[in-house]
Amino acid sequence: MRIGIVGGTGGIGEGMAMRLSQTHEVRLGSRDLSKADEASRECRLAVEERGLPCTLGGCSNQVAADFGEVVVLAIPFKHLIGTIESLSGLEGKVVVSPVNPMERREFFTYVPPEEGSAAQLVQRLLPESKVVAAFNVIAANRWKAIDEELDYAVPVCGDDAGAKQTVLNLIRGVPQLKGYDAGPLATACMVECITPLLLNVARYNKMHDVGIQFH
Ligand SMILES: NC(=O)c1ccc[n+]([C@@H]2O[C@H](COP(=O)([O-])OP(=O)(O)OC[C@H]3O[C@@H](n4cnc5c(N)ncnc54)[C@H](OP(=O)(O)O)[C@@H]3O)[C@@H](O)[C@H]2O)c1
Repeated sequence: MRIGIVGGTGGIGEGMAMRLSQTHEVRLGSRDLSKADEASRECRLAVEERGLPCTLGGCSNQVAADFGEVVVLAIPFKHLIGTIESLSGLEGKVVVSPVNPMERREFFTYVPPEEGSAAQLVQRLLPESKVVAAFNVIAANRWKAIDEELDYAVPVCGDDAGAKQTVLNLIRGVPQLKGYDAGPLATACMVECITPLLLNVARYNKMHDVGIQFH
């Protein structure tokens, strides 16, 4: 499958690129082409020096959006609207939002937009795209630790059954990672607000990169 990662030079983008490019065609996008090339070169090196295959390439965010059958918006919430407005051609595509709108006050807290969640905001801005909320709850450092298995659960929300299945299949292709259908896009707020919970648990219990599993 072809996967384009918008904002691919960040923690989540690089980590997902390192894992997914072993079995899929992945393009890592940026506003700055040289930054995309550099990030992609470093990620490719890390994968290939372990003797693993890698199909990663760097490009602009627009080229990543054009390239992907699945397009991941790996962008901080505060830059989400501007980034989406800068892109074209996402109609009909599966657009994945791992975005968690939250703030750090005296503790981490969920601050959703008026649509109810970041994923629903994305769907409002991209009415012709098949928006799926996924990958909200895995820390970037865990994605990047490619010598370790990702033994976590990924709740997936979306209104298009086919798009949701595509993302669940992507998740199931990563060793140990388990995808779960968590309902329609209207439930994305419940997934997005898990991350501030995990960050608070990590902080108050002196833990790192806390994740979830469902049993
Ligand atoms: N970090 C985590 O552990 C984690 C876990 C789960 C979900 N998430 C979610 O995943 C998303 C990405 O997180 P992240 O930690 O990877 O973010 P990040 O590293 O802070 O930023 C990602 C990328 O966004 C781009 N960017 C920065 N400022 C921008 C602007 N003004 N306009 C457009 N693009 C801009 C940058 O790419 P260029 O400068 O190359 O354009 C940057 O590399 C967030 O919404 C977060 O809530 C993160």
